[in-house]
Amino acid sequence: MFEVKVISTGRYVPENIVTNDDLAKFVDTNDEWISDRTGIRERRISKEENTSVLAAKAGEKALEESNLTPEDIDLIIVATATPDNFTPSTACMVQEKLGAMNATCFDVNAACTGFIYATGIASQFIKTGQSKNALVIGAEVLSKIIDWEDRNTCVLFGDGAGAVVLQRSEEVGLISQYTGSDGTGGKFLACGTVPLKNPYIDGKDDFNGKLSMDGREVFRFATKVMIQCINKVLQDTEYTLNDIKYIVPHQANLRIIDFVGKKLKIDEERFYINLDKYGNTSGASIPIALDEMNKEGLLQKGDKIILVGFGGGLTFGAHLIQWQ
Ligand code: COA
Repeated sequence: MFEVKVISTGRYVPENIVTNDDLAKFVDTNDEWISDRTGIRERRISKEENTSVLAAKAGEKALEESNLTPEDIDLIIVATATPDNFTPSTACMVQEKLGAMNATCFDVNAACTGFIYATGIASQFIKTGQSKNALVIGAEVLSKIIDWEDRNTCVLFGDGAGAVVLQRSEEVGLISQYTGSDGTGGKFLACGTVPLKNPYIDGKDDFNGKLSMDGREVFRFATKVMIQCINKVLQDTEYTLNDIKYIVPHQANLRIIDFVGKKLKIDEERFYINLDKYGNTSGASIPIALDEMNKEGLLQKGDKIILVGFGGGLTFGAHLIQWQ
């Protein structure tokens, strides 16, 4: 078995900034409520760029930093719950845009945990020798599935994309990983798609392509699984929470992160937080955060960090990473 390391990162967010005050112009809300309950101050909302465009731009930046050529990439996985199409996959569209013609390409949908799942899958490809250089992207245009009349949800989400290049390595980069799912809670965070309808059944047209959420249930679930995931990736390793420089959580809500910090007795400074700028970008939030940390020079060789995600499905997971 081979080892796996992160060799580069990239991100791309749409230019269009939408503040809480901007939202208050067409939905019954205000900056104070949103900032106080969530920590979110603004988000990016795509005007014309669909998910594959965001994904390709983030991927291109990660590729540039890696010093690899597009032909060196042998695997592209895009984590997204908001693909451009049923088919072709967003990953295949990224392949075309980047000219990465030696890659095997597919999408993964684990909602906000998508990047954790996709990184896990890519690492298995690399560990077993099937791949050498994998481009893993989390990309979402959530604005197209948001119900813009529902103040319970429309204030929470934003659009964006983040990417990493994972490479076969002699040094340990990915120390441990943990993932899980709970399909019984799927209804708490859901977005329907085309209904079952064909000439052989009398199907009712119950199309609902908009996101719905039970905020309290999701809050309860998120706080529980974040703690579970962090403990699980440390279990059976030589490390404890004290060895972890940063926790990079899925950027859903500051209150969720604060709650987990208090339970685990971790100072807020050890969580990397940027949700004030982007809101919840689902599968893109963790790689966007990771790229910001990388570009800000916060990560040194040998640093241990934990990436932890949770979201629709319900799904959850984490990686314990040694930065190389
Ligand atoms: N602006 C103003 N008021 C709002 C509002 C908004 N954007 N959204 C909801 N409210 C109102 C509600 O209608 C309710 O009013 P009422 O008491 O008159 O009925 C009141 O605020 C309280 O609503 P409630 O849903 O109980 O608030 P809350 O304290 O549970 O906070 C969330 C709501 C969504 C912030 C919180 O439940 C949460 O963070 N959940 C997790 C969501 C999440 O992270 N989802 C993505 C996971 S990947």
